[in-house]
Order: sequence, then structure tokens, then C-alpha cells
Amino acid sequence: MKDDEKPGEKDALETGLRSRQWFGRQDSYGFIYRSWMKNQGFPARMFDGRPVIGICNTWSELTPCNAHLRMLAEHVKRGVYEAGGFPVEFPVMSLGESNMRPTTMLFRNLASMDVEASIRANPIDGVVLLVGCDKTTPASLMGAASVDLPTIVVSGGPMLSGHWKGRRIGSGTDVIRFKEAVRAGEMSVEEFMAAEAAMSRSAGSCMTMGTASTLASLCEALGVALPGNGAIPAVDARRQVLAFDAGSRAVAMVHEHQRLSKVLTREAFENAVVLNAALGGSTNAVVHLIALAGRLGVPFTLDDWDRIGADVPCLVNLMPSGAFLMEDFHRAGGVSAVLRELRPRLNAGAPTVAGCTLGESVAGAEIEDPEVIHSLARPFKENGGIAVLRGNLAPGGAVIKPSAASPQLMSHRGRAVVFDSADDLKKRIDDPDLPVDADSVLVLRNCGPKGYPGMAEIGNLPIPARLLRQGITDMVRISDARMSGTAFGTVVLHVAPEAAAGGPLALVADGDIIELDVAGRRLHLDVAEEELARRRAALRPFVSPYSRGYEKLYVEHVLQADQGVDFDFLVGGSGDYVPRESH
Ligand code: FES
Ligand code: MG
Repeated sequence: MKDDEKPGEKDALETGLRSRQWFGRQDSYGFIYRSWMKNQGFPARMFDGRPVIGICNTWSELTPCNAHLRMLAEHVKRGVYEAGGFPVEFPVMSLGESNMRPTTMLFRNLASMDVEASIRANPIDGVVLLVGCDKTTPASLMGAASVDLPTIVVSGGPMLSGHWKGRRIGSGTDVIRFKEAVRAGEMSVEEFMAAEAAMSRSAGSCMTMGTASTLASLCEALGVALPGNGAIPAVDARRQVLAFDAGSRAVAMVHEHQRLSKVLTREAFENAVVLNAALGGSTNAVVHLIALAGRLGVPFTLDDWDRIGADVPCLVNLMPSGAFLMEDFHRAGGVSAVLRELRPRLNAGAPTVAGCTLGESVAGAEIEDPEVIHSLARPFKENGGIAVLRGNLAPGGAVIKPSAASPQLMSHRGRAVVFDSADDLKKRIDDPDLPVDADSVLVLRNCGPKGYPGMAEIGNLPIPARLLRQGITDMVRISDARMSGTAFGTVVLHVAPEAAAGGPLALVADGDIIELDVAGRRLHLDVAEEELARRRAALRPFVSPYSRGYEKLYVEHVLQADQGVDFDFLVGGSGDYVPRESH
């Protein structure tokens, strides 16, 4: 290509490798592109037209769940070299659940922009996404989807099981249990602190079926990760083999022109919904998958979650819905065994990054421990899926995870106890004078995408200490927030539109009767229309306290929960074409 020639807008993958637009040139640009790369010790043959595989790494010591991903990247590189590719590792913004304030969800879209820009701007033909902690998976996939190169996911894998005082303890889930035990006076603060080291005892992400494990598992159903991605423990050598194989497959996928959009079809999303139900997976998957589908233009809505997944039984006995942990799950056969069992419910012909269909890739899988992975004939719980509720309190929808809720509360009428913000909740929840009893419905608002901002994981409001001491362990709770995938309870989440966007949640007053009817998919505020209209007229509009920076951009452009909480201007993709040179 000559100096004055520009690559056409034609699909570079059809005409040759995209990286040739950089490394394949004989001009001064080609000199620059190659020369500086050579300062890392790459021989000239690396630029001979072999596929360049970008290893997009969300490693960070501030994301403890992803801290081992540098090591895992080395195994990906081995696989890329083996298959005749040229691996180049690069860092992107990492989002660590345990450290970041006010919530990682505030930064998911920002991280996705980093991933999208980093992939598109660079001489890359295929991508391996190294992910782990909750938001790193959807952020990376969303960004990659908007570029749409051949892409494969490698998750870091779950931590080893926690053990404390003779019993299994699970990430997140037991933090919540311990916290309540301390508040109920059943556990000392010294014991509480001693449990910390016992819980997180190896590299990896939360080892309950929280958001990280849910998404790592769903990547198998989506077809974007190899079998084993969901459950092989982080420190198991087979995780390194998976990374090695993913590197090799990334090179093959470039040769096969297997763009991400060829894998992430409507059928793939349907498969993910079915698997999520069988796993008793995180409610957070709802917003992440809707946002991901939006990047690809795949029609996939909140109601699809209910329509496709609601009657799928929960097959997996894992915390927070059950008793076991990810290490047990892997030993029992992992995601492949569940997918194999679910085959009658799946689009088995969906393509995967393994180079075969989903049905073929799990054909040999078996359930090794029926206590951990149940069969369709003998499910762990009926109705594992996400139920989508609607009504005058949630015209845009709300979600509840029945497998983590109390059966006796699934149909409930109670008086509202309203908290206006996260601060208000903290201040008053344990107030001995709070007019609350076991039948009350706890309402938390202004904690949605715009309100918090970032839709924090605080929707599983704590049970008031006074009630805890009476032995009450669950109550109906409703909010525009999310909850941790490791949490449990009769918790209605993602109410849309949120209070800060003028949703009816803003109109609820203390003492109002609220009706929850999960079977009827109904969430109703039993207050007369005229009274609601009067309250609406008196409502002061939400004013964000953020006048600059990323938070301002976020509040101005974030979509509601039923649309995946993406930014309005990020929906869709821009492909991989870059029109201009850099100098
Ligand atoms: Fe990282 Fe749970 S805190 S996966
Ligand atoms: Mg989480």
C-alpha cells in the first residue's frame, strides 16, 4: 500500500487480516508500526501476516478476583504461538467489586468504552478477553461487541471453597449471614473478623453462584467461552489449559472469520436465559445481557427473561440459592453437565467459539454428583428463572429471583416503610421506633441508575435488628437498586422507571399498601389514582449533585434497568474500521 492510499471501508477480514493495515505496509507508517513494536524483542517474522491476537486484560491488584490474570495471560500466549499467531497483551480499566466506591456498576459503561476503543484503535485481528470479577465480564464483552472482531472469553475462575468452624462458607453470601448474626448478637466481632481469611483463601472470583460465576457460566451458554470456563477453580491447572486452548482457538477463529456477532445471536441469548434459571444465577445477568444484546442489535428484552426462563427449574444446589460452592460444582460436572441436561430446552445448534455447536460441545458431559447438579426429572427447585413483575409501581418492569426468595412471601400484602436514600436507610433501619413489623414492605428508592448513581447492590435491605432478634429472616423488599448475585431474600429489584427518573416508586408514602403477587407477575401500589396524581404534582424533580466529570455524563445518558443501564449513545456498534492514520 502506498503512502497516500487508505484502506477501503471494505471488510478487512474478507480481504485479508485487519492487522495488515498496520504491519503489512512498506511505507513510513509501516516502519513506525513495526519499529516500535520491535523494541519489545519481537522478531521480524511476527509481522509476516500471522493473526495478531489482542489479549485484553482486566488484571489489577485492586481487583483481587482478577489479580492472577497476568499469569493466565501467559498461558493464552502459549496457545496463540502454538497456532501460529502473534499475541499482544494490553490492560484495560479493571472493576473490582470489593474495593470500588460508590459501586462498580457506575463504571461498567466506562470500562466498556475503554475496551471498545483499545481494540478498534490497535492492529488486532482477534481478541481474548481476560475477565473475572462481576463487571469485568459484561464491560469487556459489551466493548468487544461494538467492534465485533473474532472474540473469545477466558474467565479467571472461582476461588477455592471457604471453610470456617467446620462448615463451608461462601463469598458474599456468608458475609451477609455473618453481618446479620453480629446484629442479632449471635456472633462476636472477633469471630467475624477471624472469618475473613477463611473465606477468601485463593486466587479467583467469588465462589458462590454470584454475578462473577453466573456470567462466567453464561459465557459457555452464549458460546463465547470454551467448556469449563464457568466452574474450573482459578488455581486448578485445567484453568491454564483452558486459557492455552482459548489462545489457539482465537487464531483459528480469525481464519474462520468467526466474528462475535456470529456467535452472539438471539439463540445464544435464549440459551443463556435457560442456563441462568438452571443455575439460580444472579439477577445482575438481566441488565448485563440486555445491554450486551443492545450493542449487537439483537432483539432481547426484559420480558424474554420471564417468557424463556421462568418455568426452567433450578438444577444446581449452590449458594446463595443452595448449599454448595463452585469447587463442588466443578467436581460435579460443571456447566457442561448442566447444559447437557438442559438440552431439550436449548438451541443446541447455536455456534460456539469451540468450533462446534453448543450441543456438540457438551455431548459427552455427565452429572458426577446428583446432590450438586440435579436432573430435570428431580430438580433442586421448581421455577429457577427470573420473574418479571409489572404494575402501577413498576410500569417498566421489575425483577425477582424466586429461587432465592421465601415461598410464603411470594404473595403478600403489606404496609410500606419507605427509605428515601441509602443514607436514610442506614440512619433509620435499626431505629427501635421505626414502625415496622414482619408484614411490612421495605421500600428503598433513589438508588437506581441515575439516583445512586450507578444502581448499587443495596436492594437486599437489611432486616431491622428488632425483627431479626424476633427470628425474622426475610421480608418483602422493593427498590430501584440491584442486589449482589451472592445475596438472597424476597427482594424485588430493578424497578423501572427508577424514582429519580420520575417512576412511581417516588410516590410511595409510609403506610401505603403494596401488593406483591409473583405468580400473577404483579407489583401494585394500592393507592387511588387521584391521590397518586396529587402526589406527582407535588413531587420535586430529582437534581443530580454531579455537575462535572464522568458522573455527569453518566447521569445524563444512562438508560433505565429494563434497557440494560447502558448509555444511550453506546447502544449498537461501530465495527472495526478506522478511517485515519495517526500521523
Ligand atoms: Fe470479585 Fe465477587 S468480589 S467476583
Ligand atoms: Mg457482586
